[in-house]
Parts: sequence; structure tokens; C-alpha cells
Amino acid sequence: MKHLLTGLALTVLFDAAAIATDASLESVINECESCHGPGGLSVESDIPIIAGQSQVLIEKAHEHFKDLQRPCTQTSYRSGQPDESLTSMCEVSLELDSNTIEALARHYAALKFRPATQPFDANKAVVGAGLHQMYCESCHPNGGSDAGFAGRLSGQWTPYLVRTISQIKRAEVLVPHVMERKLNQFSAEETDALLNFWASQQE
Ligand code: HEC
Ligand code: HEC
Repeated sequence: MKHLLTGLALTVLFDAAAIATDASLESVINECESCHGPGGLSVESDIPIIAGQSQVLIEKAHEHFKDLQRPCTQTSYRSGQPDESLTSMCEVSLELDSNTIEALARHYAALKFRPATQPFDANKAVVGAGLHQMYCESCHPNGGSDAGFAGRLSGQWTPYLVRTISQIKRAEVLVPHVMERKLNQFSAEETDALLNFWASQQE
């Protein structure tokens, strides 16, 4: 009887801990979504869609922000916070321990990606498709629509990708050298063609 009671008490304790964890994860998710949008489907063209990105990419992104391997661009909360309050992904990531980062990454990787609705030029997209196939497909499969270790490019917001590409070209982001080199070799027209190709994939 004594053992049974101890067992019961422990179960209650563990359940309470689990509930506390769920509640704090929930509040972190609320903070994420005041920028990344409901369900991680950003409606802000300078903030990436994170729903349906791979778990490994999301975890890696947080580690890179923590280690200052990506720029700490100051950015405003888009909802749920006073207008003028600014933070950066580095500050956000530094507040999270690795268990929380893993739980967040699992959460967003399991959600459904929905491509951004945005304009594109169909002729440029055809040129971009060829460039993607030749130089990028090996790590960004299926025309950049697979959420693998390198992340999904197709359907991502173009303004976010434009800014990230310029950071990559300035060696401000930790990425494979071959990719950085190739991005630096492309002309402005070629980069624009790739962006139009990714934006054209709206399904
Ligand atoms: C104040 C707004 C803001 C908040 C809060 C925020 N983010 Fe971000 N996030 C951004 C912006 C803007 C970027 C683009 C990179 C940059 O400009 O620093 C980004 C980039 C990312 C990336 C990189 C995506 C990629 O494709 O490489 C991930 C992953 C991410 N955020 C996840 C999260 C998670 C999870 C949370 C909650 C813990 C969160 N963010 C909270 C604004 C925010
Ligand atoms: C050797 C593998 C490899 C090749 C080839 C490659 N990439 Fe990448 N790419 C990556 C990885 C890995 C990441 C994720 C970097 C990180 O951890 O943040 C990435 C990320 C990116 C990002 C940032 C996406 C985001 O959400 O922030 C862009 C843009 C990109 N790649 C463009 C390209 C283009 C264009 C090509 C073809 C010229 C290319 N990549 C070829 C591995 C590759």
C-alpha cells in the first residue's frame, strides 16, 4: 500500500511537471508567432515561414544565432507586443535551452508548409529552374521544395531570401563553402531568376 501511494504521488508530480513544460512551450510558441505568424506561416515578407521546415534546419538555425554565426538583425514584434519593442533571433535563441529548441523544432517541422502568395515573372522562373537544377538541386532537392538538412527554398518569401542571400555572399552566415562561392559567382540576373523560380512554386 505504501509503495502504491508513493507511486501515485510520483505520477502526479511527473504529470504536473509535464503540464508545466507544455505551458511554457506554449508561451514560447506564442512569442515565436508574434513574428512568424499563426502556425509558423509568416505573413510578413521579411520574416521566414518556418512551418514544415526540417527539424534539423530549425535546430541548426537557433544554434547558429546563439553562436553568432548569423547576423543579429534587430527586428520588431509584429503583433502582441508594444510596437516599438525590438529584438533579434540571437536574443530570442540565447534564452532557449537545447531541450526547448528541440521541442520547438519538432513542433514546427510537423506543421504543414504553405507557400507565400507573391508575384513572380514566369520567364525568369524558367531560367531559374535550369540554374537550380544544375547548381542547387543536390542539396536542395525537388526544386528546393524538400525540407531536408539544407532547408526549403521554394515558396519562401522572396524579400527574406534576398536579404539572406546578401548576408551569405558577405560570408555572414555559416553555410557550405561551395554554395557561398556559387552565390558569389552568379550575376544579379541569375540570382533574380532563381528567386523567381522559387517564388513561382505556389503549391
Ligand atoms: C521579433 C520577431 C521574431 C521573433 C520573436 C522570433 N523570430 Fe525567428 N526570425 C525572425 C526574423 C526577422 C528572421 C530572419 C533572420 C533575421 O533577420 O535575423 C527569423 C529567422 C528564424 C529562423 C531561420 C529560418 C531559416 O529559414 O533559416 C528560424 C528557424 C526561426 N526564426 C525560428 C523562430 C522560433 C522557433 C521563434 C520562437 C522561439 C522565433 N523564431 C522568434 C523574427 C523573429
Ligand atoms: C553542399 C550543399 C549545398 C548546395 C550545393 C547548396 N546549398 Fe544552399 N544551403 C545548404 C545548407 C546546409 C543550408 C542551410 C544553412 C544553415 O544551416 O543555415 C543552405 C541554405 C540556403 C539558403 C538560405 C535559406 C534560408 O531559409 O535562410 C539559400 C538562399 C540557399 N541555400 C541557396 C542556395 C542556392 C541558390 C544554391 C545553388 C547555387 C545552393 N543553395 C546550393 C546547402 C547547400
